[in-house]
Amino acid sequence: MKKLFLLASFLVLSILGAAQAAGGPAIELEKAENNLRDQDSLQRGAILFSNYCMACHSVKYMRYNRIARDIGWTDEDAIAKMAYGQNKIVDNVMTRMQPGVGMEVLGTEPPDLSLMARLKGPDYIYTFLRGYHQDENGNWDNIALKGTSMPNVLEGMQRHSAPDDYAQAARDITNFLEYVGEPAKLDRHDLGWKVIAFLLVLLLLSYLLKREYWRDIKH
Ligand code: HEC
Repeated sequence: MKKLFLLASFLVLSILGAAQAAGGPAIELEKAENNLRDQDSLQRGAILFSNYCMACHSVKYMRYNRIARDIGWTDEDAIAKMAYGQNKIVDNVMTRMQPGVGMEVLGTEPPDLSLMARLKGPDYIYTFLRGYHQDENGNWDNIALKGTSMPNVLEGMQRHSAPDDYAQAARDITNFLEYVGEPAKLDRHDLGWKVIAFLLVLLLLSYLLKREYWRDIKH
């Protein structure tokens, strides 16, 4: 009985804990509505990432050649469009920031973003990128990460682009970061269908075989 009680309270506590963890930030996240199968979006996202983010961030678990292969570029494209011709195709995608500069200028090292979309989810990234606003004194803050030391790097777009273009740019970057978080996701989805199809064929064959085996047996 005591054991049962302990088990029950453990379950209740862990459910409560999980609910709290899933609650996350108290704000409503915007839906990114990005699409990993949209290669044009991934290509635009990669270029935007290089232009707007790599001054501070790396995605160091990715290499240029893997990105090229996955998003439909040649090796030359990847180096020209993401690395301004400066890197080798087998290089990892490192930040252009010199070590230590982040700490000195921003008070913190900008994190590597390889797994950020896995950690926080695409909707969070999208909301964070679009979440900058200025108070009456002109100080910037972010609704998703209050007091963040990351500047509003998309400010130019936020101010001057059409709202749809600004949204699309944030969506493309988010798409790219979700892809980077799990490059094999597309392969996995494609493979999933093949496995299911194979199992269905197997099911049909085993059923026919069973009928054949039992045909002459009275049962
Ligand atoms: C000037 C340097 C700089 C640039 C450029 C920059 N970031 Fe950051 N970023 C930072 C810093 C610093 C942090 C850590 C922020 C903090 O902890 O307050 C950060 C944090 C982040 C985070 C994590 C937020 C969190 O909740 O912990 C994400 C996601 C991110 N950046 C995405 C981007 C993207 C995408 C771009 C390009 C569009 C970009 N950043 C460009 C400096 C930069």
